[in-house]
Amino acid sequence: MGSGENSVTPIGPRHMHKKTHAPSYVKKMPILAFGHPILLRVSLGQAIDIQRGATLFGRSCIGCHDGGGNIIQPGATLFLKDLQRNEVDTEEEIFRVTYYGKGRMPGFGENCTPRGQCTFGARLQEEEIKLLAEFVKSQAEQGWPNIESNTD
Ligand code: HEC
Repeated sequence: MGSGENSVTPIGPRHMHKKTHAPSYVKKMPILAFGHPILLRVSLGQAIDIQRGATLFGRSCIGCHDGGGNIIQPGATLFLKDLQRNEVDTEEEIFRVTYYGKGRMPGFGENCTPRGQCTFGARLQEEEIKLLAEFVKSQAEQGWPNIESNTD
């Protein structure tokens, strides 16, 4: 029985296989590195929109909706549960309410009518209201996290 020889031969090839494994990891590295700039570019674009939305929100909405709340009408906050109950939980509906107003909420659209339902302050462009709708929706989905709303 040449058992001594049998136990030696399998070790050789296994050992060789392990050695060739390490360089294949190194080869994968550049592929992973390529993915990064693309991911960064996408999230940066989103971050800029959210930032612009936050700026607009701070200028026009925070007076009544600080932190996503509603100081005039507690049942109509910008938190998801209220938006859903009041059927304002789509960007389209948020846009509409912001553009034309609703109840004691003034409309901010350039062509908002009737005048009595619209803000006496500065009107917003359609693109700005779209950004606001996106911002409000994404904030609502995240429960209004870390918004620097303490301007007073
Ligand atoms: C003068 C106070 C005031 C300002 C300023 C204001 N809102 Fe409102 N907002 C309200 C009130 C009051 C309601 C409730 C209206 C209703 O349902 O009758 C409301 C409701 C809403 C709703 C629907 C909320 C729900 O749960 O039904 C959205 C969305 C909204 N506002 C967005 C905005 C945005 C965006 C701005 C800034 C462009 C803004 N609001 C500025 C007072 C205000």
